Amino acid sequence: MKNIRVFENKVPIVANSVYVDETAIIIGDVTIKEDASIWPMVVIRGDINKIHIEKRTSIQDGTIIHVNHIGPFNPTGNAVHIGHDVTVGHKAVLHGCRIADFCLIGMGSIVMDDVVIEPEVILGANSLAPPGKILDGGYLWMGSPAKKIRALTDREKEFLRYSAAYYVELGKRHKKAVE
Ligand SMILES: CC(C)(COP(=O)(O)OP(=O)(O)OC[C@H]1O[C@@H](n2cnc3c(N)ncnc32)[C@H](O)[C@@H]1OP(=O)(O)O)[C@@H](O)C(=O)NCCC(=O)NCCS
Repeated sequence: MKNIRVFENKVPIVANSVYVDETAIIIGDVTIKEDASIWPMVVIRGDINKIHIEKRTSIQDGTIIHVNHIGPFNPTGNAVHIGHDVTVGHKAVLHGCRIADFCLIGMGSIVMDDVVIEPEVILGANSLAPPGKILDGGYLWMGSPAKKIRALTDREKEFLRYSAAYYVELGKRHKKAVE
């Protein structure tokens, strides 16, 4: 079975430079831009709405990304949009949410419907962003439910860029290793 799959008429569009591990599953209306990386056991299921992942963003091992359909309980549905240079740690769940550029989503975190994460946010490991929450940009958020903890330092903002760039390079190494 193919790991990048059409669903009905919805065809995933994955840029050539993206590293997609062969155990990751990408289905339907999914767009993944240049130099992004999709690590082992990730599920990105765009069957009933759109998922867009911008360039240089890494989606790490075991993460699940899904959406909501338009229906009687949700007239607008919920797509997923993830900006560029975002690091999504291992085993996160991202559902019907928007994450802006230069963020880090800690390992094991859950980001629920209609959440908006503004640019330059670190969401601490194992946090939960509840439905509709807006996480202001430039801060560390942490906990369940996630609370604003403190402003990020300049060094942490630099780290967000470093982390994204590091995963671009690591993705290239893995892509080469399986060619
Ligand atoms: C939150 C985080 C950024 C550290 O921030 P920090 O301000 O340097 O925090 P510290 O390490 O000084 O810890 C401060 C307190 O928060 C606690 N803490 C740290 N991370 C925590 C987390 N994710 N959830 C709950 N509490 C946490 C510490 O135990 C400490 O508690 P104490 O004051 O009672 O001793 C880091 O722990 C984290 O979660 N990073 C995400 C890493 C990740 O998932 N990367 C993706 C993989 S590539």
